Formats: sequence, C-alpha cells, structure tokens
Amino acid sequence: MDIHRTKDEMRAARAAAAGGEARLGLVPTMGFLHAGHMALVARAREQCDRVVVSIFVNPTQFGPGEDFDSYPRDIDRDLDMLRAAGVDAVFLPDAAEIYPDDAETVVEPTRLSRILIGRLRPGHFGGVATIVTKLFNLMQPDAAYFGQKDYQQLCVIRRFVRDLDIPVRIEGVPIVRETDGLAMSSRNVRLEPAHRQAAPVLHAALEVGRETIEAGEGVSVAGQLIRARLAQAEGAEVASVDLRDAETLQPLRGAPDRPVVMLLAVRFGDVLLIDNMIATPKEPE
Ligand code: PAJ
Repeated sequence: MDIHRTKDEMRAARAAAAGGEARLGLVPTMGFLHAGHMALVARAREQCDRVVVSIFVNPTQFGPGEDFDSYPRDIDRDLDMLRAAGVDAVFLPDAAEIYPDDAETVVEPTRLSRILIGRLRPGHFGGVATIVTKLFNLMQPDAAYFGQKDYQQLCVIRRFVRDLDIPVRIEGVPIVRETDGLAMSSRNVRLEPAHRQAAPVLHAALEVGRETIEAGEGVSVAGQLIRARLAQAEGAEVASVDLRDAETLQPLRGAPDRPVVMLLAVRFGDVLLIDNMIATPKEPE
C-alpha cells in the first residue's frame, strides 16, 4: 500500500495509474477508522480496480470551540486496517500541504449548507464541500464513497457535484451500527461510560418515528414521539429533531406521501451525536 503525503506525489501516482482503463475509487475520511468507514472501503473495493483512502482532519470544517484539537487520531492503526482491507494507496497530507496561507476560494452550497446541521455548525458544510472538491481535483476518481450516516453531508456533496458538473459518481453507503444500535462514529470513544450506555436511544427514537410514519401519522406527531423517547435517556440534550423530504431536505407538513428523512442531533456532555433514518409511508390501500 502506497502512502502519499504531498499533492505532487498524489498527482504523480494518479497519472501513473490513469494510463489504462483502471477505475479509481476514493474514500475520503478524517481517520480513526471503524467498521462504518470500512464498509465504504469494501464497497469501493467491489466496484473499482484501485482504491485510494484519504485521511485528513480538515480544519476548515470545524468551527471555533469545536473538537478539532481533541478529534481522535491513530494513524498506525488506521494504516493497518487499510492494508488488511486491500487498499492501494492512502493520501495523508498535513494542513499546510492542503491549504496555502493565502487561500481564499471556497465551495459553499447556498441553501443546503445553511439549514439543519448547517445552523448548528455555521461554515461546516462550506469546509466539507471545499475539501471534497480539492480531493476530487487532486485524485480525479471515477467514483467516491460517502456514508448515509452523515445524511446532509451526502446531500450537499451530491448537489455541488451536480451543480458544478464534477465528473465523479457519488455512492451513498448505508449506516453501520454497533450491536446496540448506536451508529458507529469516531466520536463515540469520547462519550463518558454512562452516556455511551444511553446513546442507543437515538436509534430507538428513530425506530419509533419510522413506525409512526409507516402507520400513516403526520410528521409533527412522529417528531413529538421521537422527542419523548429521547427525553427518557440519561444526559441526552436534544439539539435538533427534523423530519424532512428525504431528497430535498425541505420541511414537510401533515402525513407525508413520499420518503421522509428523520434527522437527529443530540449532545451527551460535549459530544454531539447525529443519526438518521428514512421512513417511507405505506401506500394507501
Ligand atoms: P468522517 O467522519 O471520517 O467520515 C468519513 C466517511 O465515513 C463519511 O462519508 C461518513 O459518512 C462515513 N461514515 C462514518 N460513520 C459511518 C457509519 N457508521 N456508517 C456508514 N458510514 C459512515 O465525513 C467526514 O469524515 C468528513 O466530513 C469528510 C467527508 C472526510 C470531509 O472532510
């Protein structure tokens, strides 16, 4: 497995591999890998001839006072996992390599980046869209793999790729969960033990929401039942509960007639957990 630390090395490796018909798959990550990331790698491995994983804790998508400094890191373990998964190359730059001091150009979705998580984390999706665009330009992958765990992120990426005519196929991969239902996340290790025990409540609340929508109830009833379920958990501070059109992320009213995405953001101590699930209302008989 090749490890490239500079843009020049990465570009040279891309050019060397590009001669033939080899399909290149890119899996962008911030490291501290877990089975959720590895599901993206496995999907890329199935569909592509060469798989590149990037590991870069991107400073521009963290706001002031967020967890950039305490974001967990373990590069040696990450590299072992990627080697074992048959990854061809890893791009492992530092921030100075990626961002020139006088960088001033960003990719900023106008509507999608300001709603939902974008309100809780202003600037976050602009940072994500900019780094992902840069990775696409550097690596020119045929396909890139993202988790449905970060549902709004996936929507933002699909949208700017379409809007800017970027020739990369975006593949969304289902959420991988712990056996108790907690969505896998690099941040889960930062939960205190009591909070870790309580955290599967996000998944449990989403299941309540899904059953409610499937039973033909409206989004406001489902939202109330989700909040009530979350309120039963020790230490859970609800940041947001949103039920939206699964495709556009626009608000909905009444009983939906198309797939609904239920998006949760819940704080345990200083750890912000997100989770989501799609509920599809049953066709009227
Ligand atoms: P990171 O949080 O490391 O996640 C990298 C990818 O793994 C994302 O596409 C994310 O949705 C996916 N992922 C994380 N947990 C998952 C789970 N439990 N099941 C399925 N997929 C999961 O997301 C980022 O990094 C960054 O914003 C990035 C896109 C790399 C840009 O900096």
